[in-house]
Amino acid sequence: MIRLGVNIDHLATLRQARYRVPIPGVVPEPDPVPAALLCLSAGAHSITVHLREDRRHIQDDDVLRLGRECREKLNLEMAATPAMLDFALRLRPAEVCFVPENRAEVTTEGGLDAVAKINSLRPMIQKLHQANILVSLFLDPDPRQIDAAAALQAPVVELHTGSFADASPTERPTHFAKLKSAAEQAHHLKIQVNAGHGLRLSNLSDLLSLPHLHTLNIGHSLVAHAINVGLEQSVRDFLQAITKK
Ligand code: PXP
Repeated sequence: MIRLGVNIDHLATLRQARYRVPIPGVVPEPDPVPAALLCLSAGAHSITVHLREDRRHIQDDDVLRLGRECREKLNLEMAATPAMLDFALRLRPAEVCFVPENRAEVTTEGGLDAVAKINSLRPMIQKLHQANILVSLFLDPDPRQIDAAAALQAPVVELHTGSFADASPTERPTHFAKLKSAAEQAHHLKIQVNAGHGLRLSNLSDLLSLPHLHTLNIGHSLVAHAINVGLEQSVRDFLQAITKK
């Protein structure tokens, strides 16, 4: 069975759109922590958050509370920096996924360059191993990157599905072929294969034949879909609230 990891960053995006500056006496909403627990109780297998350097969505306090509530299901995405390594070693989530980070990007645009960063990643990965934290590398489906993951003894890779997800139906098979070859290479090297980015209900089925797939991490579209399927109830609740008794 393919496992589902839910990235809840965009619940925090919605909160930060209004509560970047706290309003005295008002509890900021939506709170991503109970929402994460709701995802788990609905059957999601893990929760992913990306604590970005610019703190544009998820905040330190959210991650610390998630650590208390669901540490064993928590996947922390982070840049490979000393500050984030310290944070992860104090938090001790089940899993850390190293991702590239660029302040100007809207979302994570490409995979981590594990080949170029092999020397700086190695000691960080060792420290996470020693703390019993599963390490994942978010990589483009490029054979050199998968080889670097093996050289770094990373137990997991997350293949970047963005190019596949956004490709036209005619281009999609080419991108799928790259993902398939990367998944086979990783599996051959005894590396667990996760995948994610840009996945939607409309493109998921084309990905399900990817071999050796362990976990799919899905964020934006799942949260957007929740707004669509949950909006009617929200309107009903507000109508009820404004109806004079
Ligand atoms: N996996 C990784 C490593 C990511 O950086 C992201 C986006 O933050 C996702 C999965 C989820 O992507 P999306 O929000 O497009 O589903």
